[in-house]
Amino acid sequence: MFVKPVKKFIRTTATAPDKSITHRAVMFNAAADGEAKITNALLGGDCRSTVACMKKLGAAIEIEGNTVYVRGVTEFKDAELDAGNSGTTTRLLTGLLAGKGITASIDGDDSLRTRPMRRVTDPLALMGADVTTTNGKAPVYIRPARLHGIDYTMPVASAQLKSALLLAGLNADGVTRVTEPVLSRDHTELMLKAMGAGIATDGLTVSIKRGALKNTDVCVPGDISSAAFLLAAAAVTGGEVTVTDVGLNPTRTGVLKVFEAMGADVKTTDFRREIEPRGNVTVTAGALSPFFIGGEDVPSLIDELPLLAVVACFATGDSEVRGAEELRVKESDRIKTTAETVRALGGRITELPDGFVVHGTGGLEGGRVYSHGDHRIAMSAAIGGLGSRNGCDIEGADSAAISYPSFWGDIC
Ligand code: S3P
Repeated sequence: MFVKPVKKFIRTTATAPDKSITHRAVMFNAAADGEAKITNALLGGDCRSTVACMKKLGAAIEIEGNTVYVRGVTEFKDAELDAGNSGTTTRLLTGLLAGKGITASIDGDDSLRTRPMRRVTDPLALMGADVTTTNGKAPVYIRPARLHGIDYTMPVASAQLKSALLLAGLNADGVTRVTEPVLSRDHTELMLKAMGAGIATDGLTVSIKRGALKNTDVCVPGDISSAAFLLAAAAVTGGEVTVTDVGLNPTRTGVLKVFEAMGADVKTTDFRREIEPRGNVTVTAGALSPFFIGGEDVPSLIDELPLLAVVACFATGDSEVRGAEELRVKESDRIKTTAETVRALGGRITELPDGFVVHGTGGLEGGRVYSHGDHRIAMSAAIGGLGSRNGCDIEGADSAAISYPSFWGDIC
């Protein structure tokens, strides 16, 4: 895929529906006894993996356009599940199935098989679960067990881990209490609350009691992580972009704060709340300054860090990201693949164990980039290409379909 440089990227558009919220809307409704309609669902590769897994477990799911009709079941069938490239599917389902009294396995592609699963299976074992991994990775095996609540302090801020334990807590005796070091995205808490779960949040601690879920229709907002690519395209080309009806959950909007700190103008309008906060966002380009992102900021923009590395090349001076070692265990080692991408585009970057420093020179030449099969690397490279002098050729561009199936059409 070749991305040509553009003078000023200017448009008003919707973006892809939210991946995290679609996963949860499908999965949780599939575990509730009744029917629900999910509108504006994301039907990218990862969410399709969740749909396929929930069908195999016994839920009836029909897709019509962007609408997903789910008829859930409270008792699942034994199943061999394929989560594809999706860490969210694997980790959330491991928690959900641990106390369901079934025998199941969850496997996925080569990238998924490299991702750490003990962070989920170790605390589940403390709850009494019978879950095992393959040397700490997928395939994960789940057998029937009776669960009890625990009080668990998470070693990493991870919404996938937090969600897995909360979902296990729905099928455990007593109260399950989870505390995280920094608040990660809280989509699970908001949706479980909307579905009638006995869940309460107190600062960084969430507690949940055993209970059934009530089916709930969900209209999925746009994904701020997908919108970020369009907004960044404005920032690096001197343009202006408005993304309409996008999720504005504060646990996800760190990228907007960075755009603002860099000197872009960021405005939100039509703010409203519907399970999740949502509204329109406009970014108008300004002269770009370098940024610093430290540990506390990382969870609210974890998926945007490869993109922000590319944007940092368009500022003059050093931008630094620290406390982001989690990037090493994403769909690729995103510290390594981000550094490779920046260099391939003609930028300068120093890799650190827990982040990187981008030595921005105010622009990029462009070049040839390999995505490593990682959707966010492919799309970050494309934004670099749009703002570059010569454009960018991307090998493995099709991986964008994991989270943003219409991406290439939306940026051309
Ligand atoms: C996600 C949580 C994050 C994020 C991933 C989606 C979720 O992962 O990187 O893309 O939907 O819960 P971690 O929870 O592992 O940080």
